[in-house]
Amino acid sequence: MYDKERTLATDRRLIWHPYTQMKDYADRDPLVMVRGEGVKLYDADGTEYYDTLSSWWCNVHGHGHPDINQGLIDQLGRLEHVHFAGITHPGAAEVVDRLSAFLHPSLCRHFFSDSGATSTEVALKMAFQYWQNLGQKKKTRFVFLENAYHGDTAGAMSVGGIALYHKLYAPLRFKSWQAASPQCRTCPHRKSAFTYAARDTACALECFQSMEKILTRRRREIAAVIVEPLLQGAAGISVYPPAYLERLRELTRELDILLIFDEVATGFGRTGTRFAYQQSGAVPDFICLAKGLTAGYLPMALTVTREPIYQAFVSDDLASKTFFHGHTYTANPLACAAAIENLKLFETQDLPASRAKVLAYFSQRLRQFESFDFIGDIRQLGFVGAVDVVKSRAAKKRFEPARRIGWQIYLQSLRNNLLLRPLDDTIYWFLPLMVTKEDVDAILAKSREAIQTVVAAAGK
Ligand SMILES: Cc1ncc(COP(=O)(O)O)c(C=O)c1O
Repeated sequence: MYDKERTLATDRRLIWHPYTQMKDYADRDPLVMVRGEGVKLYDADGTEYYDTLSSWWCNVHGHGHPDINQGLIDQLGRLEHVHFAGITHPGAAEVVDRLSAFLHPSLCRHFFSDSGATSTEVALKMAFQYWQNLGQKKKTRFVFLENAYHGDTAGAMSVGGIALYHKLYAPLRFKSWQAASPQCRTCPHRKSAFTYAARDTACALECFQSMEKILTRRRREIAAVIVEPLLQGAAGISVYPPAYLERLRELTRELDILLIFDEVATGFGRTGTRFAYQQSGAVPDFICLAKGLTAGYLPMALTVTREPIYQAFVSDDLASKTFFHGHTYTANPLACAAAIENLKLFETQDLPASRAKVLAYFSQRLRQFESFDFIGDIRQLGFVGAVDVVKSRAAKKRFEPARRIGWQIYLQSLRNNLLLRPLDDTIYWFLPLMVTKEDVDAILAKSREAIQTVVAAAGK
């Protein structure tokens, strides 16, 4: 059915991989994955790997779920694709109908697109045009958080705050303002590290001052603020408290600024609730969804907004009030079929509430890392956990970036049948909702072994 050597030879000759320094693969082959089942992937030699990052944070119910597979097969027999302007189809209607029941009732207008980046681009463009349509022509700017990641298209990059990914492209980015991030793990305002359990008591939200300053000074120019609620993923799995979102919602409402929650990574149960914002009292003006929307099967995204925002675009003034944005594969019926089966699983299995026990177990088992001096910080939010690997916690020393400790741990983990994808020296797990206690044990034990081996070899 496949020829591993031919695949590799063709890949080497013709393919350029994402987020990859191709020189790292000059003398190394990429893995050739041919099958997935549950939390495991299998390569062309039959070797199994725990998919600890849910295939870039999108797989929700494990690989090859029978219900989703069947939903796709059934849809294939009906309609594979049709354009979505002036046409609708039952799949798209069912997706938004089912999803509406999960979201706050004010989030009721759904715009389909293709990926996380397009979902945030759409929110930015809608927020911009909303103010234009209302005649508030000066409200054209955006505010984002330090270390934010909202995708790799030019607009999404303009509200990105990760120097490694975004600095080079500065001349291409539109002007936006960056607020200090609520980086609890390195909080300059408190001595002890943030723990999620202490979220309601320990914090006076001093970090909000930076955001407050920008918003109050620039209120007339700001169209919207965009944040990843509770968890800045690409920032290194940086977790912050719901109270930050509540303050942000209060102030943006007071100052007439729109609020965008990018739940591309945090949506669909990953943080322990269906959507991260549901752990706070804050409801945004836009929510961006992708990745888990189709349970990791097919590319599809949604930008969901409020009725008054939608109404500002409904007009006889075709030229200036229409939202001229769309993608060829908008609301693709196959992707909708996968999303429907995904949403049905959330309903029938009462996800993620029914997984509370395994989550508590994950929290408890993460504590095994506490005793190691080479672990700087441990964090967890729902099915996402992370540890920072350091030279010495006691001496507050990190490894020099040139040593690429995270990359070494990645290579070592492969020998342990584990697929990790560290962010610098942060080792994280972005687990699917169906993981068992046994999976958690195996994944954490194998990760610990890989970390210990690399740290021991690295010395001081
Ligand atoms: C919070 C967030 N927003 C947007 C994106 C971009 O999504 P995509 O890769 O589907 O464009 C990502 C991807 O990791 C993300 O984590």
